[in-house]
Amino acid sequence: MNVLGINSVYHESAAALLVDGKLVAAAEEERFNRIKHGKQADFDNPHQLPERAIRYCLNQGKLTAADIDHFAYSFDPKVRRKRYRPEWWDPRNEETFRLRLGQVPAAIEDLLGRSIGHRLHFVSHHLAHAASAYFPSGFDRAAVLTIDGIGETAGSSLAKAVDTRIQTVETFEYPHSIGFLWEIFSGYLGFSHYDASKVMGLAAYGDPEVFRQQFLSIMRADEVNYGVAREYLGVHPDRFARMEAIFGPPREEHDEILPRHADMAAALQAATDAAVMAAVRRVKRRVPFDNLCLAGGVALNCVTNEVVRRSGEFSNVFIPSAPHDAGTAIGAAFVVHCAKQKRPPQRGNSTPYLGPAFTRRDILAAVKSAGLRARRSRSPARQAAEMIADGRIVAWFQGRMEFGPRALGNRSLLADPRRPDMRDILNQKVKHREDFRPFAPSVLAEYADQWFEVGEHCASHEFMLFACGVKPDRRDLIPAVLHRDGSARVQIVSRKSNPRFHELISCFFADTGVPLVVNTSFNDSEPIVCTPTDAIVTFRKSGIDALFMDDLFLTARP
Ligand SMILES: [Fe+2]
Repeated sequence: MNVLGINSVYHESAAALLVDGKLVAAAEEERFNRIKHGKQADFDNPHQLPERAIRYCLNQGKLTAADIDHFAYSFDPKVRRKRYRPEWWDPRNEETFRLRLGQVPAAIEDLLGRSIGHRLHFVSHHLAHAASAYFPSGFDRAAVLTIDGIGETAGSSLAKAVDTRIQTVETFEYPHSIGFLWEIFSGYLGFSHYDASKVMGLAAYGDPEVFRQQFLSIMRADEVNYGVAREYLGVHPDRFARMEAIFGPPREEHDEILPRHADMAAALQAATDAAVMAAVRRVKRRVPFDNLCLAGGVALNCVTNEVVRRSGEFSNVFIPSAPHDAGTAIGAAFVVHCAKQKRPPQRGNSTPYLGPAFTRRDILAAVKSAGLRARRSRSPARQAAEMIADGRIVAWFQGRMEFGPRALGNRSLLADPRRPDMRDILNQKVKHREDFRPFAPSVLAEYADQWFEVGEHCASHEFMLFACGVKPDRRDLIPAVLHRDGSARVQIVSRKSNPRFHELISCFFADTGVPLVVNTSFNDSEPIVCTPTDAIVTFRKSGIDALFMDDLFLTARP
């Protein structure tokens, strides 16, 4: 049985394919259409499908449109209709949204050139999030916590998963949305609504005490309460008014970043840690298992994730590589598989390497059409490691593209973590990011504990989802990946999960005695590269020193 999962209701449009319960492909539309997040979240476009991601999934599964038995869409219009309140936002927008959702079946039929009849299933958004974490976790039972901007109408959901059943035990409806609060604060601090990661980076420079009291009135989270105050949120134009009264005028995009901006970010981070921990304790009381799965965009907050992991409320914590909306394409497909099949789906396959790979012939063709000549390396890992140790920025393009927002060694830019100036060099030559944003390390699994306070290793450590402390005696040795608060957003690399990347870091370790490299996504203010041509374009327009694709490499002219 073939199930195609689709997410396009808001943003992070994506598709995923399950063949007999086995996840064979998943990809985000932004990698193909080269528009960040695939599309804007808008009332007017939930029928705008991730067309190229869908085509990729079919190709990867060697299937045609006629082979798809079921389609799973990660949003349920019926649930929305039942729970929507007209006072929340303009009913005309809601009407448009419903009309567009009604066009989803026709959009699929147009795209695939076939009728789909009753084969399309609308899956509740938070159920899809929960499934995207639970089935890959490999747990046979777990508490599941989903926290995002909004599902149909809920901002957080608590669920109990046993065998193949996921049952919602409690939901917190709009406006109780931590995800929205981050979007609004991102805007207020002069970033785009999608720039929660910038706010997170900035938080390390602020003092959470300065605005702690103010945040107590914005986010309530304790034994009894869990919620966000309505006045700060919502889809209405004067949403900054209340914040302005408390925090002063919003920052404009090119304004200087002041200490009060960092203090606000720090207070938001601290309030989020407390709120998520309140939700974690709450779900533990309702579902007293040892295992916790986290999903939803808020589960990309690596600082909060570490607080949850260290709390010990649950012995085991799993977060998928794509906890944000893209992951719901996978989750919706799992839910439909379980509903239609007596057999359970494959569990415990959490690999993020679910995107397209390219053959040597594809790579050579891309190099040739760019008018370049690639050289062959006898040992790409060794050669790349030597260049990195020599201070070069190396683009490492290997195997299948990652699913999720982090580059995990297959579409990565790599650099030397020992150099204090490497952050500036990366920013000047390629990334053009704000200087308060940290770069992350990828460390050999065998040595992770000697360098970082990782605790017990878990599968999600391979997805760069936890901000761990750097061991105090190692901090001076790796300034390029050390964040202001002494932490680093570590990716643990095992030989099993990514042998080529593991080999490269091993070579770097042999040369330098340091078992880690700087790993940042292979892009420059654009979606992460997907194809060899994307890689060559970004390589040429930026200051990357060398590009390795399989055993072929290009070097920049001096
Ligand atoms: Fe979501």
